[in-house]
Amino acid sequence: MIKKYEELMRICLDEALKYRFEVAPNPMVCAIVYDEANDKIISKGTHEKFGENHAERNAILNAGDIDFSDKTLIVNLEPCSHQGKTPPCVDLIIEKGFKKVVIGTYDPNPLVCSQGTMKLKNSGIEVVVGILENECIELNKVFIKNVTKKMPYVTVKIATTFDSKIVTAGGESKWVTGEASRDYVQKLRSQYFGILSGSGTILADNPALTCRIKGERTPERIIIDRHGKISFDYEVFKDDGTRVFLATNNLERDFPTNVVPIEFANFRDLFAKLYNNGIYSILVETGKTILTALIKQEMADEIYKFVSPKIFGNGMDFVGNLNVFKINECYKLEFRKMEKVEDDILIKAKFLYDE
Ligand SMILES: NC(=O)c1ccc[n+]([C@@H]2O[C@H](COP(=O)([O-])OP(=O)(O)OC[C@H]3O[C@@H](n4cnc5c(N)ncnc54)[C@H](OP(=O)(O)O)[C@@H]3O)[C@@H](O)[C@H]2O)c1
Repeated sequence: MIKKYEELMRICLDEALKYRFEVAPNPMVCAIVYDEANDKIISKGTHEKFGENHAERNAILNAGDIDFSDKTLIVNLEPCSHQGKTPPCVDLIIEKGFKKVVIGTYDPNPLVCSQGTMKLKNSGIEVVVGILENECIELNKVFIKNVTKKMPYVTVKIATTFDSKIVTAGGESKWVTGEASRDYVQKLRSQYFGILSGSGTILADNPALTCRIKGERTPERIIIDRHGKISFDYEVFKDDGTRVFLATNNLERDFPTNVVPIEFANFRDLFAKLYNNGIYSILVETGKTILTALIKQEMADEIYKFVSPKIFGNGMDFVGNLNVFKINECYKLEFRKMEKVEDDILIKAKFLYDE
């Protein structure tokens, strides 16, 4: 039966993902009402918009007026047991009298984690937890960071040579990696609420930092320019209907209407302010200086490192001095995934920080 639950859980993950931006800062969730005896999906329900019905309620509504006492509910996140904008899903599941509930992963909110499961079990419902757990956690990694830390999820993207250079000694940076990697980054951009870059990169490359895939969403831009040295003629400030947050400590300027200045002390302060402005996830595309500061301040969650089969020898490293003199002082990562992107390799890794 586990294989079948995994198959159904995959459907939940694919469906839930369709509403990434609409449900934020809520999690992406889909539920299926399943008839095990006849191997039949009765109905599906997805959380489609923040403040509206949760997935479990929609799946139950879509099933219509049926007997649930021999049905299984499959859902990628533990059903809620507390009163939020909508009534607790657990109460509805118990009221409908489901036979079994199959859950991908526990609710990460420490205040309610495993309470929904306990309530279901106490009412006599069979509960299975942990189907495709890693995939379920990965789907809602932004929500998990948001709910546990009240901060945006931060992914660094960097394109390097085999010897970890991002710019040649002559200052050239176009292009370190191949076309397929650059297309991948375009897709990545569409998945984040914000894209962050620094004055060094803006002045050197004048990037637009938009998503150029037709029909896909462009993230809001966040530009770090503490002293206000970038003129508003640069591409990133073009008004395309998305806000541009200018992280600066120079407020003595006139800002275009699409530019929102934010004063900040450090990355923790900046990210907290961005979170309060609805930036729940950030893709960082900068050079060495900002990346070094982010790592030192322990503010990056994950890194996507594209590695091309080229060697520059000298040039700009992707990261600078981190004051590591002993091996046990190093910053640590956990490799998550490696994939070939045409001639390049993409390594996905998670930063590990001591709590
Ligand atoms: N291969 C790649 O994936 C890739 C991606 C992006 C860029 N690049 C290359 O990287 C190069 C630029 O790198 P870079 O290191 O010069 O610039 P950068 O990291 O993009 O930006 C550096 C700027 O960040 C600000 N800054 C410095 N320390 C900070 C701190 N602790 N907190 C917040 N802000 C801080 C400073 O600007 P202010 O003092 O003005 O605030 C500094 O000039 C370019 O040549 C570009 O082509 C490569």
